[in-house]
Amino acid sequence: MTQELTSPSPAPQAAGTGRGPGWWRDAVIYQVYVRSFADSDGDGIGDLRGARERLPYLKDLGVDAVWLTPFYASPQADGGYDVADYRAVDPLFGTLQDADDLIRTAHDLGLRVIVDIVPNHTSDRHPWFQDPELARQRYLFRPGKGESGELPPNDWESVFGGPAWTRTDRGDWYLHLFAPEQPDLNWDNPEVHTEFEAIMRFWLDLGVDGFRVDVAHGMIKAPGLPDIGHGAQAQLIGAQVLPFFDQDGVHAIHRAWRRLLDGYGDAHGKHVIGVAEAWAPTSERLALYVRPDELHQAFNFQFLNAPWQADALRSVIDASLAATASVGAPTTWVLSNHDVVRHTTRLGGSLARARAATLLMLALPGSAYLYQGEELGLPEVTDLPDEVRQDPAFFRGGRATGAAGPGTDTEAAPDGVAAGGQDGFRDGCRVPLPWSGELPPYGFGPGGSWLPQPADWGGLTVAAQTGNPASTLELYRAALELRRRLPGLGDGTMSWAPAPDGVLAFTRPGLLCTVNTQGHDVGLPAPGTPLLSSAPVTVDGATAQLPGDSCTWWAI
Ligand code: NOJ
Repeated sequence: MTQELTSPSPAPQAAGTGRGPGWWRDAVIYQVYVRSFADSDGDGIGDLRGARERLPYLKDLGVDAVWLTPFYASPQADGGYDVADYRAVDPLFGTLQDADDLIRTAHDLGLRVIVDIVPNHTSDRHPWFQDPELARQRYLFRPGKGESGELPPNDWESVFGGPAWTRTDRGDWYLHLFAPEQPDLNWDNPEVHTEFEAIMRFWLDLGVDGFRVDVAHGMIKAPGLPDIGHGAQAQLIGAQVLPFFDQDGVHAIHRAWRRLLDGYGDAHGKHVIGVAEAWAPTSERLALYVRPDELHQAFNFQFLNAPWQADALRSVIDASLAATASVGAPTTWVLSNHDVVRHTTRLGGSLARARAATLLMLALPGSAYLYQGEELGLPEVTDLPDEVRQDPAFFRGGRATGAAGPGTDTEAAPDGVAAGGQDGFRDGCRVPLPWSGELPPYGFGPGGSWLPQPADWGGLTVAAQTGNPASTLELYRAALELRRRLPGLGDGTMSWAPAPDGVLAFTRPGLLCTVNTQGHDVGLPAPGTPLLSSAPVTVDGATAQLPGDSCTWWAI
């Protein structure tokens, strides 16, 4: 697609004043899952115009940046993570002009914009894969085993279930760590490097402020593609280094991208960032992705996967902070995204815990990622009929049964597929947002919604919660406002304070945070004056009563 576009809009605060401190170090970044955020044209699918129209809502919520999930030309075999043209907008989501308008409007509002880049695999409809000669050089084709090559080249399994290899009409096999429609690229081929650097420059020239790097741990495979020796491999992801994930060779790619991002930022007087979606077995290995010459941030899935227990949370927080401190990077925090069960449901179906977990997250030093709808306290939708499912893992029998159910601790959710929820698949966290009204589609758009919304979401809409101080939406707004007002809360220091069993207490510049992970009230000496609490806290003289499953920020 070629379209004449005007020059990129300046990033917030970049104009004239130099780059300033790294904005990402304490940024709150809101994930817009475009297909489910807001629909402008009535086809039931969210789009870029719909997202642009709702940007003032995000500004008012108080976030610093938005991350847009893939809106590129794609057959949508995996929600757009199967890209057929990295420089074109899929007609489902709009046009390149719509992307340009969205970036410009965001910048005018003081919001930065991060977009996804998907370098581990393309769509099987990508022109490279469609051309047999190019495909052989730029993807991972191998002859099969067995007398007539009828067996896959090795025992690797797809994250979505089944073998990671598909045989072509020509008789050879290609690797796809995800769906067969997502062939893995051959990163030993320099043309692949050149192309991805050009794609990045294309979007940087359109004004984006960074990239969320999909499967950042996946591009390099162990030499010889060795067998693993046993099945259930998806459960090993994030638990150990595998011949297809977290290979040391990926770091050379990230170093090259950092040079590109820094060079671009230097030339344009701004900071543009890379965020790794990487699954590594330990916080230390994850920290390798954010060394000073690699990406700026990595998602902290260890925090997301921590059970709602004071000791476990404290260990994860300590390990995360220590690992990132060792390389001088900020820590990130995340509780929900489009691949995992929404945290209201995951933390025992308890909105109280979800609200407390969010206040905990927003009190920690570093940057936080929010997933659309968590500010409304949306639960996972757990009764979607089979005929509306779209998650490719559902059709490949991926990580469905045997996964932890709602209310239990989730098992590690490797790149892609979450445990829990309805049956471990990902459609239940992707149901379109309710904005207003009593009936579906609740203001999502002028038509319906691509996944059915529950009949009882009328009380959860943005309109219903706005102005109600007890609502989850107003809790998020208040927390984000305080975060902006308290200097040093983002990137400053943190120290643990003494606390009873099952309670966490820590100080940050200007506040003390208490988290009661027990299901019942706990009394303790009042640490100060309550600033914000996820549940009504009482202070009687010198004693404070922390409600069960609550988090409170205290002025000290
Ligand atoms: C991670 C993305 O978040 C997920 O949605 C996708 O299925 C896989 N990577 C494959 O691209």
